[in-house]
Amino acid sequence: METAAFLIDVFLPNVAKGPIIRRPKAVALAERLGLDDRAVRRVKKLAGKYRAGPLLLRLPFREQAVILQSGHLHYALINSPEPFSPASSEKKAALSHFEPRNVLISQGPERTVRRALQEQVLDTHSPVHRLASSPIPVIRQEAAQLLADLDPKGTAENSELVWDDFIESWYRVVRRTVFGDSARDDHELTDMIARLRQHGNWSFLKAPDRKLRARFLQRVQNRMDGAEPGSLAHAMVNLPSRQDAPAEQIPQWLFAFDPAGMATFRTLALLSTHSEQYGRAQTEIREETTGREQLPYLRACVLESLRLCPPRR
Ligand code: HEM
Repeated sequence: METAAFLIDVFLPNVAKGPIIRRPKAVALAERLGLDDRAVRRVKKLAGKYRAGPLLLRLPFREQAVILQSGHLHYALINSPEPFSPASSEKKAALSHFEPRNVLISQGPERTVRRALQEQVLDTHSPVHRLASSPIPVIRQEAAQLLADLDPKGTAENSELVWDDFIESWYRVVRRTVFGDSARDDHELTDMIARLRQHGNWSFLKAPDRKLRARFLQRVQNRMDGAEPGSLAHAMVNLPSRQDAPAEQIPQWLFAFDPAGMATFRTLALLSTHSEQYGRAQTEIREETTGREQLPYLRACVLESLRLCPPRR
């Protein structure tokens, strides 16, 4: 009964809202119907009852771990990819719409090689990425442009920073960070992955659009071939270690920068309504002298925004 209640209250609404890219209308409907509150109540009830975890739901074809406390999360992460595999069958089908050979849905020795590649390029074990000095001026430039486009004396409509403008600017930063300045205006590339992610929402209920996927992956490959020094793709191309399907590791970055954008925008929203914290963040930025932009207070603000509103892609 509890498994059925979890599926109805938590799993199904999340699938309807779009597990790979959000469907705005479904999200709005879920909000109107109070489905998020219902899901939270259900999870709280389970968390109160099952202290030891992760809780394993018995589904017809497998067991599904449900994370109810941070301790469960650490346990599952330490014990992944075996026995806690991130490569569930529905996720494999969903992500195969745009990255069939990505680490996240790989298993066995292929996963080991692809994971090592990701860790080296993304500098997983460093608090600040070794290439951080490259995107910082890019971020400053794009943020200045974004703010310059807001009219401080204009109507409320064009003096406010709104999501649509923010995300467009964000993706300019993302393309420049991943491939270099020449990719700045390659909106088509990020539009293609957005379309493929919409297909991905249907997982195995929809056949992959092979033509669009091939065009997208070819474009990623071309961008990777022309990657500029300082970019993540350039770091990947120049790694001495063994590589497997390197171009197919990149769509995960383009995909994953989405929740990072959401987290950033929500942090800005939180700071704009908390003047004391806003002041502290401003002071930290003014007083930063390392040149590597280690901003622990601002980082904590981003983490707090993730805690308050965990982003779904
Ligand atoms: C706020 C920002 C982010 C959040 C909340 C986030 C969250 C996550 C989560 C929950 C997973 C596991 C997904 C699953 O099992 O289905 C994951 C995997 C991954 N993320 Fe992120 N992510 C973020 C940003 C990024 C960025 C910016 C990158 C790269 C540039 C990235 C690269 C990856 C990779 C490569 C994996 C796969 C790891 C593996 O399977 O071994 N993430 N992320």
